[in-house]
Amino acid sequence: MTMLKIAMTIVGSLLLIGAMRGTDSTAAASLDRRVQDLLRQMTLEEKVGQMTQVTIDVVSKGVDGRLEPHELDSAKLDRAILQYHVGSILNVGPAGYSVDHWNEVITTIQDVATRRTRLKIPILYGIDAVHGANYTLGATLFPQPTALAATWNRELASRTGEITAVETRASGIPWNFYPVMDIGRQPLWPRLWETFGEDVCLTSSMGGAYIKGLQGADFGARDKVAACLKHYAGYGFPMTGKDRTAAWISERMLREYFLPPFEAGIRAGAPTVMVNSAEVDGIPGHANHHLITEVLKGELKFDGFVVSDWQDVQRLHTRDRVASSPKEAVRMAIMAGVDMSMVPLDFTFFDLLLECAKDGSVAASRIDDAVGRILKVKIRMGLFERPYPDPSLKSRFAEGSSARQNLLTAQEAITLLKNQNGVLPLARTARVLVTGPTANSLSALNSGWTITWQGNEEARYPKDKLTLLRALQSKIGAERVTYVPGTTFDKPVDIVAAVDAARRADAIVACLGERAYCETPGNIDDLTLDDVQLILANAMIKTGKPVIIVLIEGRPRIIRPVVDGAAAILMAYLPGMEGGNAIADVLVGDANPSGKLPITYPKYPNALQTYDAKPADLYDGNTYAPQFPFGYGLSYTTFSYSDMTIDRTAMGLRDTVHIAITVKNTGARPGKEVVQLYVRDDYGSVSRPDRQLKGFAKVSLEPGEGTKVSFALTSSDLSFVGIPHARIVEPGTFTAMIDRFAVPFTLLNKASVPMTDAGGKR
Ligand code: BGC
Repeated sequence: MTMLKIAMTIVGSLLLIGAMRGTDSTAAASLDRRVQDLLRQMTLEEKVGQMTQVTIDVVSKGVDGRLEPHELDSAKLDRAILQYHVGSILNVGPAGYSVDHWNEVITTIQDVATRRTRLKIPILYGIDAVHGANYTLGATLFPQPTALAATWNRELASRTGEITAVETRASGIPWNFYPVMDIGRQPLWPRLWETFGEDVCLTSSMGGAYIKGLQGADFGARDKVAACLKHYAGYGFPMTGKDRTAAWISERMLREYFLPPFEAGIRAGAPTVMVNSAEVDGIPGHANHHLITEVLKGELKFDGFVVSDWQDVQRLHTRDRVASSPKEAVRMAIMAGVDMSMVPLDFTFFDLLLECAKDGSVAASRIDDAVGRILKVKIRMGLFERPYPDPSLKSRFAEGSSARQNLLTAQEAITLLKNQNGVLPLARTARVLVTGPTANSLSALNSGWTITWQGNEEARYPKDKLTLLRALQSKIGAERVTYVPGTTFDKPVDIVAAVDAARRADAIVACLGERAYCETPGNIDDLTLDDVQLILANAMIKTGKPVIIVLIEGRPRIIRPVVDGAAAILMAYLPGMEGGNAIADVLVGDANPSGKLPITYPKYPNALQTYDAKPADLYDGNTYAPQFPFGYGLSYTTFSYSDMTIDRTAMGLRDTVHIAITVKNTGARPGKEVVQLYVRDDYGSVSRPDRQLKGFAKVSLEPGEGTKVSFALTSSDLSFVGIPHARIVEPGTFTAMIDRFAVPFTLLNKASVPMTDAGGKR
């Protein structure tokens, strides 16, 4: 290229960047103008209404609004929208609706909002579409999030987001209260399975990929949905293990572990955040000005809006007793930075906020800020132009290709934890005894957020979907499969009959785990799997036949007493509506398992640890010795690693280190392997974890095939929260580790790193 051409190219590029920036800033300015224009025309009541969110029961027929079949109540709807000016409605009645009914519901609601109100501001409808559009009947229901995380496959996370968006939008709903970006480091917690696991990098990466699929480049597109990051922040680490109980998380721990995934979600473009329903360090999430206003909206530059969780503004008074009256609770939450209250069962929030606004205890500027943020999201969603459901999306609802994608995702989630003497895959000619409480249950495969909140009403599940038992019968022939339940989740049924049947079988598939649950009803006092299930497994082991334990559970229930005796163990998590098929595929070898644990599987109920142990946790006889470690999972083939290289041994602040390794499929079957890069900071002014995941790649290899996998590390990947609670990098030596290989390198400089440049980028 001549100098002239180079110069022209540079000038051209600069002009283009300038023009793009110009377009961006013009769009932002016109968005602001539109918001300011609306704000100028709005009455105080209309503004307070925009900040009010009620549940659909409030506008539905029946004393408590929960009649089935569901019907909107036009008088109640008029009252909510015309008298209280509510800006948002959420949730479903007792159980999911058809696409058509959702379309009717949304159309009726938007008719009132966009035709009969003064300013025609559309309603923002929100729903929990946690593993697909779980409140629309017949939707594609994917593996629950911890299972999705176990795939370690960003593409699958992104496709899950994409299909969830299509099916949620087909229902006329543009806003999803998902993903959970709070990390799951407390295995007792009944919401563990709603997380992407215990690690910062994995959660940031899988959650970020999901958001990109859900929102695309523009969440206002017809087939996209806006994400809501929840529950900000530290909800996932309750000391008691019970839902919505207190966490004690220091500022350092919060910034080191709990904030970076939220930051990744903001970077991925999520325009809304839901607040932690419990408390951290004695401060309820909804009263935490520091976290919401200073950190989220300030440091992290979040310019979307913050929604409360269910009833949690009221709970500042009724539960937490940090507010001495309901009105003080409203003032406190709004001044802490909450922009919208999920009230959601009445209009008290509206009345009380109006009072606060009139007596000046909540400044007009705070209300304008909150309403402006909400309106901005509504505009960006395209709601003003397209408030109604798009009928053309119905043809894309629950397409065959989505079910296939769902099956692939469930197959890749399944994690093989033990496989003695290659007992798996089973021969298709084997006579199999299937036993255990999760064998013939769709609700166990799906759990909460499925058709109903608790997901535990088996009768409501689609008749055409297969439980594990039915899937195995259809795969190898019903005549080869005997089914004896053995136990329920917590009571014996016919263990003796199961033992008897085991004698006539070649192998036993013991399906253990948990019944469906969600949130507080899923609280437990003991992480150990119910005694009776362990008794069943032991009775099976004693027959001398090979026992394959299949775990269908939302959290890692302790199974130590049966691990040694089991011939194989498959962790299926909550694999969703195709879970039965996926497990059957893995059992007979139609799918080769490639899942890796996104959580540590503990061995003892009182030895609950995460993999990123601190030095003292591994000193003087202390160890990280769980039942199965984070990142673990076997395959039906084998992989070998070799030739780990690093392109520089010393790096400056702006340098990138490239680390590469060769991985080869050395077995006889095609398979997928997750290459995991960990880094240890050898010495630090704050004690550093033993190792931290800093990158991963899932590769698919034919027998004999090898490939080189490369990772890039920058200095921000080496940063941590220093003594003064700010993110820094320190000079010193580091060790990069993949499989059994390790290479050292040195960082030469010292610097502070802005919060908005925290780790977890890949
Ligand atoms: C949960 C949230 C959920 C909300 C609305 C609450 O009970 O904590 O995660 O988004 O309900 O359904």
